[in-house]
Amino acid sequence: MTRPAITCRDIQDLLGEVNAAGSALVDGHADASPLPEGPVRGRLVAAMQNLLAGLQDPVEKGLELIWQSHQNAAVRTCSELGVFELVPPSGKASLQELVDKTGADRQLLYKQLTIGKSSRWLDLHLPSLKLPEYLQRTAYGTKPDPDGFQTPLQYGENTKLDLFQWLKTKPEQFKTFNLAMESLTAKSLAGIEAYPFDTELGLNPSSTEDEILLVDVGGGHGQKVEAIRARYPDLKGRMVVQDLKEAIDEIQDAKGFKPMVHDFFTPQPVEGARAYFFCRILHDWSDQDCHRILSNTVSAMRPGHSRILILDAVLPDTGVPPLAALLDINMMLIGGMERSREQWVALFAPLGLEIVKVWAKKDVSIFEASIIEARLKG
Ligand SMILES: C[S@@+](CC[C@H](N)C(=O)[O-])C[C@H]1O[C@@H](n2cnc3c(N)ncnc32)[C@H](O)[C@@H]1O
Repeated sequence: MTRPAITCRDIQDLLGEVNAAGSALVDGHADASPLPEGPVRGRLVAAMQNLLAGLQDPVEKGLELIWQSHQNAAVRTCSELGVFELVPPSGKASLQELVDKTGADRQLLYKQLTIGKSSRWLDLHLPSLKLPEYLQRTAYGTKPDPDGFQTPLQYGENTKLDLFQWLKTKPEQFKTFNLAMESLTAKSLAGIEAYPFDTELGLNPSSTEDEILLVDVGGGHGQKVEAIRARYPDLKGRMVVQDLKEAIDEIQDAKGFKPMVHDFFTPQPVEGARAYFFCRILHDWSDQDCHRILSNTVSAMRPGHSRILILDAVLPDTGVPPLAALLDINMMLIGGMERSREQWVALFAPLGLEIVKVWAKKDVSIFEASIIEARLKG
């Protein structure tokens, strides 16, 4: 996707309009006076919307539109829980107070509040995935669904399959999904760029052409491996891309890797690779499912040699950016989640894994993520 032809000069002009409208709104008023209503405020809002429209790229704009329903769902859920009445208009309520008073699960309420806070409009349309209805059925995350639906997606689609098994029953949608994953790679390689695959993996004097350098688990059409090969053309060693049969069968021309059908809920057949790479995989799954996936990997790892690389977001403890909060809700719909560092550490601990480093590029958006490097303890 190409960016609209907006120049730095355009941005300067748009910033100028924001500043001018902002000054027209507040100049001449005392610091403590209430915000003046009227057309000048509307002018500032319009100037800021123009600036945002100029700055956002088409993918960011598209994701915002697609995920708008999550904001609606979060606002409706907060409304049904009575959260708005519990927070005084001019005051604050702590998360714990709200948990105590609503009886909702703490983690779930935090997500709804984060996204509700990011919402700029209180539109209460029914979301397509019936999230609020599902949350009611599960007593806001504190009880299992009476009919055994594990996720809002399952409830909304009346299926007991996980997202990918369900997509297998809709081949056209699965194809589109896989293509979307490819285009996200084309949009940004910042996650890949965060990790020095050459010095960390491939250019080690002991590496050989024959050894398995990297296994990309759930690697789709091989888009990430191709990007790694393009960035480091001198990397020695073999690479393997594993995925479900439906995704592997669509690979036309595998350059620089071996495609392999493999279900990551079964034991990893490639033993002793230098790296097992999970790119945007674990955020699709609950902690319990991640344990199943990772324990299949741990048993294939060679101690002191193999590592796990995870390209996913590491959420900040406070101030989660709006798009990241939306992504988190998006994952919740399918039973997954975005995780903070503390949550990653807790996820790894029972598997005997520890984080050795979180590799991240400075000033990149949450979508472009970071690479978490984990190894066997001891
Ligand atoms: C969010 S996509 C990420 C694709 C790719 N790693 C990327 O970053 O572009 C998730 C991938 O996991 C694959 N997947 C889902 N369930 C799987 C399973 N049980 N075994 C192997 N792959 C699976 C999907 O087919 C899909 O390619």
